[in-house]
Amino acid sequence: MRLYLASGNAHKVAEFQELVRSSGLPIEIVSARAAGGMPAVNEDTGTFVGNATKKALALLQNLPAPSWVLSDDSGLCVDALHGEPGVESAYYAGPQGDPAANLRKLVEQLREVPKERRRAAFHCVLVLVGTSHPVRSFAGICPGTLRETPAGGAGFGYDPLFVPEGETRTFAEMPEGEKNQLSHRARAWTELATYLRTLVPGDAHRLQP
Ligand code: IMP
Repeated sequence: MRLYLASGNAHKVAEFQELVRSSGLPIEIVSARAAGGMPAVNEDTGTFVGNATKKALALLQNLPAPSWVLSDDSGLCVDALHGEPGVESAYYAGPQGDPAANLRKLVEQLREVPKERRRAAFHCVLVLVGTSHPVRSFAGICPGTLRETPAGGAGFGYDPLFVPEGETRTFAEMPEGEKNQLSHRARAWTELATYLRTLVPGDAHRLQP
């Protein structure tokens, strides 16, 4: 089964390829880039599931039938900021979507917030849709805390600030394999993989691209 990923984010592509590999499912993740590019989508629905659905349907429209598309909408919800940046995580510091500027802004916004009030959670919604398959969504949440200063060079986005619950290292201090065992994306993927396993045997003929 070929699953096109409705994202322009190369880090997400790599994380999904690793998640698929370790799940053992007969799935090939293909980036939107390899399929001619991710169409521009106005992520204006105000929800992770709404934005993920818009991205999945936008890419599906550009692909030959039959095709399958997976999309991911995710973000960081910070308790002390009443859930911000949330669905606006990619554009927190402005419409240019600069990850380094987003990280600097978050550090700045939390400067006065003491350690015990620095709780946050990464959220991820995955949407699966196929040419003759309705939209299905799967959610994953990873709770944790935020450091005062960034640490680590792996991963992307807010990874250098985020320490998942039960850990002492940030996501950016972990090798990809480790982040992929606890992340919001991995948790949503586990739900989706369970669903795909129910689909693959009975619907095998429909899963051939
Ligand atoms: P999206 O691509 O529109 O879903 O935006 C997701 C944004 O949320 C990214 O640009 C990051 O700022 C943030 N984000 C989502 N997942 C992660 C993650 O695993 N690590 C770090 N930041 C993330």
